[in-house]
Amino acid sequence: MNHADPREPTGRSPHDSIDVAAVRMATDLRAIEWHGRLPSTNDAALQRCEARDLALPMLIGADEQTAGRGRAAHRWWSAEGALTFSLIIDAARLGLDPPSWPRIALAAGVAVCRAVRPLVPEKDLGLKWPNDVLLEGRKLAGILVEGVLHTRRVVIGIGINVNNSMADAPDDIRRLATSLRDAGGTCVSRTQVLIAVLRELNLALEWLSHRDARLAAQWNHWSALRGCQVCVHTGQQHVEGRCIGIDDEGSLVLETQDGQRRLQTGTVTHFHRIAGAGSSGR
Ligand code: BTN
Repeated sequence: MNHADPREPTGRSPHDSIDVAAVRMATDLRAIEWHGRLPSTNDAALQRCEARDLALPMLIGADEQTAGRGRAAHRWWSAEGALTFSLIIDAARLGLDPPSWPRIALAAGVAVCRAVRPLVPEKDLGLKWPNDVLLEGRKLAGILVEGVLHTRRVVIGIGINVNNSMADAPDDIRRLATSLRDAGGTCVSRTQVLIAVLRELNLALEWLSHRDARLAAQWNHWSALRGCQVCVHTGQQHVEGRCIGIDDEGSLVLETQDGQRRLQTGTVTHFHRIAGAGSSGR
């Protein structure tokens, strides 16, 4: 097994190809499909989920997506050099019943933070509940979890800006996002980043399926919102308050003017650190 250092920079191109054999060796995946270009790896994975016999866990990845999707019908910009993939898991086999599925996105966020931390040791890295990973306050990665109830299979879609650069991105994305290459000034091995994420994801899903307290401790450790004044749009209303953490069920806990609120789902529209609240220590 070769666990090369993903930071090895020498001569690496932003468009290095994924070494599928190395991924197979380093993980417990039972099937891997890697494509040059797909509309969306989540769409391809959702299609595969309909098959009766499927060797799981299965990875479907693409060097480029032409119709990458995010939450709430957002598009996901997936230029070459990014890492875009979907993992299909057998949720029933892992003991993950549908009420636990919303927590899978948080588990995946923890996995991404833990996997990329060694690549950006000095930078502000954190999880923006419920499905974003931020680097220096900009979006580094997004997660889209989609469950297929009748098959009890779950698709975990992850997009990480690795060797793509915001210099090539549309204006609205350039202002809000970053990549490992932009932050670190060098290209890294996408294969090694992928392996690191898959291994951390395997561990986080194991914690989730055993209701291991280490997972909730980790999503609080990585939370970029803890101690911040936060605005959340829940679909029905806007809720504003100071974030005091993420509970064991994965709900965001806010101290509001009307008392404590626990939000199971929503989109954080604004947040800012409260003066004097101290540093995150992540
Ligand atoms: C978000 O930020 O709202 C989630 C973005 C998720 C993007 C990934 S890229 C791989 C997978 N395929 C998709 O079409 N979307 C997810």
